[in-house]
Amino acid sequence: MLIVLNHKSNLEKQEIEKYIAEYKSLKTNDHQMIICPSSCYLPLFEQLELGSQDISRYQAGSYTGEISGYALKSLNVSYVLINHSERAKCLNEGLEIARKKIERAVESNLIPIICVGDTKEEHEQRNHLRKIKEILSQLITKELKEYIIAYEPLYAIGTGIVPSNDDIKEMISMIKETYHTKVLYGGSVDEKNVEILKEVDQIDGFLLGGISLKLSNLQTLLQKLDK
Ligand code: PGA
Repeated sequence: MLIVLNHKSNLEKQEIEKYIAEYKSLKTNDHQMIICPSSCYLPLFEQLELGSQDISRYQAGSYTGEISGYALKSLNVSYVLINHSERAKCLNEGLEIARKKIERAVESNLIPIICVGDTKEEHEQRNHLRKIKEILSQLITKELKEYIIAYEPLYAIGTGIVPSNDDIKEMISMIKETYHTKVLYGGSVDEKNVEILKEVDQIDGFLLGGISLKLSNLQTLLQKLDK
């Protein structure tokens, strides 16, 4: 499976050094692991497959504080998270910005991991499938050749709430009818619920937030995936 570790803006330098040392003994078996640490730590992870949590919507140039796709590529980054709901919630980023980021990712040869999610209300009112379809149709153009989709219900991220397998199956099946690519599930995945989640055949991997920081729990999760 494809396992993406999203550290968000956690960890200080000493902690990340300890993390890298401990990560070396993690048994990942045949899983493809992609680590998305805080950008400032990307060069410390040179031997591992890397993702960035963000990319500038602009090309390189006079954009103080931004990190261009080309800079990320030069740090051996291969993937980039785009449209994560925390960018919308905390930084007011909308689909137009996400679209520009996808363009910048493609220009600099990075594979976008496009995140989409529905709210509890949309789910309860059965508007959720339509909403996700609409977002994806705005973000994914015919020209986009290589990308991954991460389905992350907004009510599941960091809350401990996980939708039922039937709900996840319904959503990912709908996505896969149109987009023939890998689809990850993300939102409160941990070493306790992964055994249930892995029964959804449509899931190609997981986008992990909280648990990505706890390597012993992550090890348990990986073991349970292999059982
Ligand atoms: P979580 O985060 O696993 O802590 O819910 C997932 C994410 O935001 O990508």
